[in-house]
Amino acid sequence: MNEATNERLQNEVEFHASVAHREREALMKTPEDLVERYRTCKRWRTHYPECVVRLLTLQKPQNICDFGCGSGEMACRLGLLGYRVTGIDVSPDLIKVARARAVLEGVTERVQFIVADAAAAPLIDGTFDVVLAMSVVHHMPAEEAFDALERLLRPGGRIAFLEPVAYSRTLQWMRNRTPVEKDVSPDERQLNAEEIRLLGKRFVIEEMYHFHLLARLRRLLPEALSGLGERVLSHLDHALLQIPGFSHFAGVVAILARKRDCSSSPHRVSLAAT
Ligand SMILES: C[S@@+](CC[C@H](N)C(=O)[O-])C[C@H]1O[C@@H](n2cnc3c(N)ncnc32)[C@H](O)[C@@H]1O
Repeated sequence: MNEATNERLQNEVEFHASVAHREREALMKTPEDLVERYRTCKRWRTHYPECVVRLLTLQKPQNICDFGCGSGEMACRLGLLGYRVTGIDVSPDLIKVARARAVLEGVTERVQFIVADAAAAPLIDGTFDVVLAMSVVHHMPAEEAFDALERLLRPGGRIAFLEPVAYSRTLQWMRNRTPVEKDVSPDERQLNAEEIRLLGKRFVIEEMYHFHLLARLRRLLPEALSGLGERVLSHLDHALLQIPGFSHFAGVVAILARKRDCSSSPHRVSLAAT
């Protein structure tokens, strides 16, 4: 491992030690209504967590990898839905919380966790039907993440991908200058159009949806209005993102992508697809 990689991973581990502390304090069982929401994914067009769960479970996978699983929240929720999941994360503190969560949720028979750099995880190539990459590729060099995802997937396997994006340089510039607390690790960034195009060259993009346009304003609403505000803003976003060109200003993308056969040719990606 080179020095830059070592430093990046060290930064992640240090940053996430304090995140793990907060997550341990807040550890609780998933409410039944939330499990039900993920079971049906009825609101997937307006709520991106439900969108990514829908993409992930479309083909009823036998085994799922949660790549950069953090404190195991999604891995355990998938376990509650009956799926077999292996979570990988570089932070030993977060994996401790994830294991405690699996015990609390009663899913230890189906859900296991490994501390490792996801780019070099000690797993047999082609192990998984689906890999969930949720808010993690933007912590890693994109090529390195795509190599690892490709390696972990069985032939024809799929990635369900949910990441923050900034296609517009102006929005990126504004975000970096707003005084809102971002709570991000040192090497984190939003993915740019070039990185999404690279994903389209490496994998076959089957579905792609954008979110989070006006929903960014949610943080400016008073606490008492944030639930209602979020619902209204996410419906408005859905309507606006149907307009050609608006996805350029979105803040989140959800993608279902299939591992290429060695023989298939690169695929052109339209960022206007929503
Ligand atoms: C923003 S958190 C997302 C966690 C989880 N996927 C979620 O959505 O709640 C990013 C996670 O990626 C992990 N991470 C960053 N680089 C990694 C790497 N090279 N290998 C494994 N995990 C990594 C961090 O430790 C952190 O848990």
